[in-house]
Amino acid sequence: MRTAIVGGGVVGLACAFELARRGAEVTLFEREQPGAGASTVAAGMLAPSSELEKTPQVLVDLQLDSLRRYPDFVAAVEAAGGQPCGYRDEGTLWVSRHRDDELELDHLCAIQQDRGMPARRLSGRDVRQIEPYVSPRAVGGLLVERDTQVDPRRLVPALRAACEASGVEIRAQTVVRAIEPRRGTLSLTIESDAGASQFETDQALLASGVWLEDCIVTPLPTLGMRPIKGQIVHLRGQPLADRVLRNSDIYLVPRADGELLLGATEEEQGFDLTASAGGTLDLLRYAFEVLPGIYDLDLTEIDVGLRPAFSDHMPVIGPTNVDGVFIAAGHYRGGILLAPGTAHWMAELMINGQAIDHLAPFGYERLLQNQEAPA
Ligand code: FAD
Ligand code: GLY
Repeated sequence: MRTAIVGGGVVGLACAFELARRGAEVTLFEREQPGAGASTVAAGMLAPSSELEKTPQVLVDLQLDSLRRYPDFVAAVEAAGGQPCGYRDEGTLWVSRHRDDELELDHLCAIQQDRGMPARRLSGRDVRQIEPYVSPRAVGGLLVERDTQVDPRRLVPALRAACEASGVEIRAQTVVRAIEPRRGTLSLTIESDAGASQFETDQALLASGVWLEDCIVTPLPTLGMRPIKGQIVHLRGQPLADRVLRNSDIYLVPRADGELLLGATEEEQGFDLTASAGGTLDLLRYAFEVLPGIYDLDLTEIDVGLRPAFSDHMPVIGPTNVDGVFIAAGHYRGGILLAPGTAHWMAELMINGQAIDHLAPFGYERLLQNQEAPA
């Protein structure tokens, strides 16, 4: 089965790898280089605990399903392509600064346990025992040992290598301008330095992140994809933490090579990718409250990415009303976490051609319900 994938972010690459492993003939089109979108900006937390309260149970279930798949996914990617993904399993430590935070952590602990996710409340002293550089003003904590992390700047090249080793043809700097059904197949209009041409395929998967509906012509209805801007600060120097540290305002993600990421803003700014003084100030200020030692680190980078979001903040993963055209997009704040699950279920769907119960809540029809019928 000839399969074209539009978009070389973590979602497109993970799907390409999974489909190729199952025998599909896959060509992936990426208008820049793989990872040029949100995927290499992401912090890489694999943490269903993070935005738990605001997340519908069906999405938490998909996150947990994907989290369970991660160790095997990483092993398969590393074995196929020979490059490391930067996977770590030290967990997340929520740090409370005052009474409000403490009540919030009690609440979060209760919700986690309700949803079958183990979490342990800690005193301020316990917190500093496991993470000695945390501020002496921290009054308590919540340890979520099940959370893990991956380094997206390692994962993306590792996935690219795994795809290529598995027979995926990656066409970088090639933009897909249109998808059109034609006599039982699909015709893609593609454009590269060599000019415009047509590409025939049996199936196409749109995994183009926030650009799902931008500068591409398809017979699909409009779903209302929008960008949610995120700024993230990179620091480097003496290692100050082993685990991901966080509270409701900030997360701090340590990398094995001594980098510390502070994230992230969440802004409605359209497709703007400018780093702002205000965003950076907020991130540094909140991070300093948790880990005062950041004062002496080097500020090496301020990165900006666009999270792909639909109006209900749930992804679309599934078929469309156009034969052979599928969508895997709108992963918002969780695309790195959701990549192995998305790839697994998408491959089941595209290869076996049968509806998948697990994907029913992620169908795109739900986004059409509030749209006006044509006059
Ligand atoms: P993208 O990575 O944006 O990839 C889409 C690709 O498609 C791009 O490379 C683009 O160039 C290409 N493309 C678009 N249109 C076309 C076309 N017509 N033809 C060819 N190519 C095309 N998620 C987590 O799970 N954990 C985190 O800790 C986390 N932290 C984050 C922190 C920040 C600051 C941000 C911004 C995001 C974070 N995310 C996190 C979210 C995560 O980054 C996204 O959900 C994920 O990267 C989306 O992946 P994607 O493949 O759908 O999109
Ligand atoms: N999931 C972290 C972020 O989107 O900032």
